[in-house]
Amino acid sequence: MARFDHHIFVCENVRPPDAPRGCCSAKGSAEVRARFKEEVERRGLKGRVRANSAGCLDQCAHGVTVVVYPAQTWYGGVTVADVPEILDALAAGRVVERLRIPDEKLTGRGGALPRSTA
Ligand code: FES
Repeated sequence: MARFDHHIFVCENVRPPDAPRGCCSAKGSAEVRARFKEEVERRGLKGRVRANSAGCLDQCAHGVTVVVYPAQTWYGGVTVADVPEILDALAAGRVVERLRIPDEKLTGRGGALPRSTA
């Protein structure tokens, strides 16, 4: 059995201000994660839903980037104000479409993983 029903990863990667890719930290990701943690606790979801800090999730152009597992739901441009709506959707088994990063816009997608030849 999984330890958590839902695991929310919030990119808190930090890059220098002049870095071409930017970073989620400069867009307020620490506040977004803190809001997730507060709201999870307020809703009595602690132990079932976990909000963790993540390094770069390789979706920098979409920051603040959030991914929810096991559903593999990717959200971009997330703000503190969006957190309750995301948790409402999670509880209802829905996705917040206006924030979802469509599969075709995700970077790093490939085919099946290669099998070991060892
Ligand atoms: S810096 Fe957040 S996804 Fe890369």
